[in-house]
Amino acid sequence: MKGIILAGGKGTRLYPNTIAVSKQLLPIYDKPLIYYPLSVLLLANISDILIISTPQDIDNYKKLLGDGSRIGVKFTYAVQDKPRGLADAFILGAGFIGNDSVCLVLGDNVFYGQYFSSVLEKAKAQAEKFGAAIFGYPVKNPKEFGVVEFDENNRVISIEEKPEEPKSNYAVPGLYFYDNEVVEIAKNVKPSARGEIEITSINNYYLEKGKLQVTLMGRGMAWLDTGSPKGMHKAGGFVKTVQEMQGFYISCIEEIAWRRGFITTQQLKALGEELKMTDYGKYILSLAEEEV
Ligand code: DAU
Repeated sequence: MKGIILAGGKGTRLYPNTIAVSKQLLPIYDKPLIYYPLSVLLLANISDILIISTPQDIDNYKKLLGDGSRIGVKFTYAVQDKPRGLADAFILGAGFIGNDSVCLVLGDNVFYGQYFSSVLEKAKAQAEKFGAAIFGYPVKNPKEFGVVEFDENNRVISIEEKPEEPKSNYAVPGLYFYDNEVVEIAKNVKPSARGEIEITSINNYYLEKGKLQVTLMGRGMAWLDTGSPKGMHKAGGFVKTVQEMQGFYISCIEEIAWRRGFITTQQLKALGEELKMTDYGKYILSLAEEEV
């Protein structure tokens, strides 16, 4: 399975922070926001990854992440000249996806929770077997998201994008798994009233064909909002607290690459050496030293 991170958009809700810097490069405590969705793909054992951003920002992503070889993976880059909608990821990424299945994660979505790796493995398998796998997560402000509607037997009957009157409080997070058909489906999606080709249209297509699996995330999972300065600040506080209390880092891409076997302990140690002036680097070194 291939992976795509969509890291474009204008980030207007965070102005003036994002006038000169791409939103997904802003820090959530001690690392850039994009490290968090990137970690999700690495946890899912996906190592062939396309990063999509704007013409003005793409070079900064290349500077930050390079070709991926430092952490034993492969990064490819593509430019989205306008924010045409999330489904555009599959049109821009068609050549990259080839005949494979694909996982899309939005560059501003932060997840953290126990057993998340097995949740991801299951979603991958579901998408490859049935067609598509997405999630539902309980929120207080469903109007701002794609929202799942259930019937009386708790079966999913529709997904609505930013409904005026949400039919449940389950939002669809920005993490989607699809089989290869998604490329053709995306090409046929018509723009919505707000002029975007919506991921929600793709999900409804799979749903109508009986090919959509929706897994509800519960209390054990955190899906953190980064849509406003307040949300980003809170997310940073959450990361800081968990890291300080548990001693485990959230979304340390070097650690995950090492645990997934993409790099050796020697390589991990070298990456830690480069960053040893920071707590982040010291943490990486401590992992490598435990093992030697
Ligand atoms: O975060 C989950 C939500 O993401 C879902 O519940 C919604 O169904 C989905 O439509 C989306 O809603 P948002 O209102 O959060 O989408 P937004 O336009 O803010 O875009 C999400 C991220 O993707 C944002 O960081 C910018 C980036 N993006 C967005 C568009 C439309 C792109 O890179 N290119 C685009 O064309």
